[in-house]
Amino acid sequence: MVQLRIQNLGNRAIESENTERKVIELIHENGIDWMHACGKKGRCTTCKMSVVEGQENLSSETVQEQHFRDLKRLLPNERLACQAHLLQGILTIRVPDSSKFPHLTYTE
Ligand code: FES
Repeated sequence: MVQLRIQNLGNRAIESENTERKVIELIHENGIDWMHACGKKGRCTTCKMSVVEGQENLSSETVQEQHFRDLKRLLPNERLACQAHLLQGILTIRVPDSSKFPHLTYTE
């Protein structure tokens, strides 16, 4: 069992028995809009998430994430939701300002 919490979307919580899903798949399967301009291929960074807690519960960084980290397009606490798998435990994230949709209401 894994749990994902999205802090600035009203602390929305998602639970799943599937322990090797990409974070963006957990989000989309639960009907939550999340940017993914390149079609979840690791080429754009619009799907990035700010990790508040549980970084250690994610899979290792992919080559695509390392590429964007080298370009300083990913902060130390940011991961690509289309690349990182939630392997265990609880992950608490936030939607970064640059990846917010205008039609959604975000909380603090
Ligand atoms: S959707 Fe483009 S990098 Fe994740």
